[in-house]
Amino acid sequence: MTDTTPSADLNRVLTGITTTGTPHLGNYVGAIKPAIAASQNDNTDSFLFLADYHAMIKSHEPDKIHQSSIEIAATWLALGLDIDKVTFYRQSDVPEIMELSWILTCWTAKGLMNRAHAYKASVQANEAANEDPDNGVTMGLFSYPVLMAADILMFNGKQIPVGRDQIQHVEMARDIAQRFNHHYGECFVLPEALVEDNVAVLQGLDGRKMSKSYNNTIPLFETEKKLKKSINKIKTNLLEPGEPKDPDTSTVFQIWKAFASEAQTADMREQFKAGIAWGEAKKCLFELVNSELAEPRERYLELMADPAKMESILLAGAEKARAVTAPKIQQVREAIGIRAMKSLP
Ligand code: TRP
Repeated sequence: MTDTTPSADLNRVLTGITTTGTPHLGNYVGAIKPAIAASQNDNTDSFLFLADYHAMIKSHEPDKIHQSSIEIAATWLALGLDIDKVTFYRQSDVPEIMELSWILTCWTAKGLMNRAHAYKASVQANEAANEDPDNGVTMGLFSYPVLMAADILMFNGKQIPVGRDQIQHVEMARDIAQRFNHHYGECFVLPEALVEDNVAVLQGLDGRKMSKSYNNTIPLFETEKKLKKSINKIKTNLLEPGEPKDPDTSTVFQIWKAFASEAQTADMREQFKAGIAWGEAKKCLFELVNSELAEPRERYLELMADPAKMESILLAGAEKARAVTAPKIQQVREAIGIRAMKSLP
C-alpha cells in the first residue's frame, strides 16, 4: 500500500465551510479568523475547502449556492489566506471525496446515523407538528455525517476545529475510520475534534446566537454605511445615558470584546459602569469593527469583481488537493478489493 499518512510532526488541520449564506461577523470571529491564524503557524498543514456538496443538503437553489460560493471564497482570500501555504479548494472539484463517501457509506451503521443531531432535530420537529417523522428528510440530510467523514478521512485530517454542534460528526468520522481500519488494516488517521474554548460565539442583533437561521446577522463585508446601520440595530435595554450598564449581558459589549485588545476591553467595561450612552457605545463599536474590516473589505470588493481569478485559484487548489486524494483513493480501492484485474492469488 502507498503510505499517504502525513508526517507526524506536521499537524494536518482541516475545515470545511458550507456554501450557504453570506459570511457574517459571527463566522469571522468564531471560525474564519482563528483558522487563518492557525494556518500561518509553521507546524500546521491546513486544508480549507468550500463544502459545496454539503450546501445541497440545505438548499436546492442553484443561484444561491453559486453566489454563496463566490462570497465565501472572496471572504477567505480577502482576509489574507496564504494560498501558497494552505490547500484551498472546492469539495466538488475533488471527485475522490464523493467516491470515498460511498465506500464509507457501506461501512456506516444506520443506527449510528439515526443518532445524528441534524437528523434527530428534523424528526423531532415533525413529531411536534404531528407530521410523518421523516417528512422532508432526504437521504442527503440523513447520511450527511458520512460525507463529512469522507471530507476528513480523505486527507488524513487529524485536527478538526469545529463548533460544539459539529463534535458529534467528527466522532462519527472517527468511529467509521476505526471500523474500516479494523477490517482492512490501517488506512485512515483517526481525527479529533478541536474545540477552542476561548473562541467567541457571537450574539446577533436580537441577542441570540448570531446565525443566518435566526436572521439576526451582521454581514461581514457590507458597506460601511450598512455596517453602521446594523450596529445601530443591536438590541439594548432602555437605560439612559449616565445610568450604569451591565457589560456582561450586553451584545454591544460582547462584540466589542471579540474585536478589542484586552486594554480596550477593560476600558469599555469601565465606560459601561460609568453609564456610557448606548448611542455612544455603538459608535465606538462601529469604529472598532470598521477599522479592522476596512482594508479587507476593499480586497473583497476587488475579488467579487473578478470571479475568474478566484476560479483559477480554486482550480489550482484542487490540483494540490488531488495530489493527496488520487493516491489515497487508490490505496482505499486496493484495500477493499476494487483492483485492476490480474492473476488470482
Ligand atoms: N458540516 C460543517 C458545518 O456545517 C462543514 C463541514 C463539511 C466540515 N465538511 C467538513 C467541517 C469537514 C469540518 C470538517 O459547519
